[in-house]
Amino acid sequence: MDTFDLHPDLVPAFHAILRKARRIVVFTGAGASAESGIPTFRDAQVGLWHRFRPQDLATPEGFLRDPALVYGWYEWRRAKVAAAEPNAGHRAIAAWAQTRDVTVITQNVDDLHERAGSSRVIHLHGSIFAARCFDCGAAYKLPPPSVDAAGTGEAMDPPRCAACNGLIRPGVVWFNENLPQREWAKAEELCRTADLLLCIGTSGLVYPAAGLPQVAAQAGAPIAQINPEATDLDALADFNIRGTAGKIMPRLVAAAMQG
Ligand code: OAD
Repeated sequence: MDTFDLHPDLVPAFHAILRKARRIVVFTGAGASAESGIPTFRDAQVGLWHRFRPQDLATPEGFLRDPALVYGWYEWRRAKVAAAEPNAGHRAIAAWAQTRDVTVITQNVDDLHERAGSSRVIHLHGSIFAARCFDCGAAYKLPPPSVDAAGTGEAMDPPRCAACNGLIRPGVVWFNENLPQREWAKAEELCRTADLLLCIGTSGLVYPAAGLPQVAAQAGAPIAQINPEATDLDALADFNIRGTAGKIMPRLVAAAMQG
């Protein structure tokens, strides 16, 4: 029997839940895309917030202070995502949905779940591919990324809106901004009715998204977490599996399919 790096006492209970679960919610953060080469935010040394201050790059105020700095940084990240491929974790989640009701709720602004084949993906923090006007909100069709994915994110003046000449901004949710209402309502409802919530690769620090595991726990769903490090979700999770998404998810889905 696969131990999943869990305490041996917990393994039978985890297997039973995996096999029985029909409505599964997978809640992902930056760690789910780490093995695809997309940097996380808070990991020591490699995390994006180790090099930059979030308030400079991921707030409306930061954008207005220095639009070229912010736009260039997001163009670099868009180029990185476009050059990346889904990893074994993304693919295992997509495969699970062949036999179970699996919905992904992600904080990630990349499209790697979709490219791995997941069709039900809720993006709580928007998409790096959906640009719009900062002033009037008109959608802006981005050309293919022209910057070097291996670079460091040089400053780049944002394009201007054809309708009102406003600055074009990335279609992501920044700090101090509201989450998209429909997506948030759906995410809460899914967490209230799930019979398993699997948290993968999130530090559980950024609210309101980080409150979703609590919603599921209050509704009685078992919570499992996959993360190589301890996080703020450890205390809430019934099963803390220490490992990476790309290594653990294929084994976990194989075990779930045995049911
Ligand atoms: P964080 O960077 O805060 O956390 C990433 C988590 O992934 C950490 O707990 C790592 O231990 C874990 N991790 C690293 N590699 C992993 C791997 N291969 N497999 C599994 N886990 C791994 O990222 P998020 O929790 O997604 O918001 O951050 C939430 C939000 O804060 C982001 O959406 C972003 C950020 O600031 C905005 O930009 C508004």
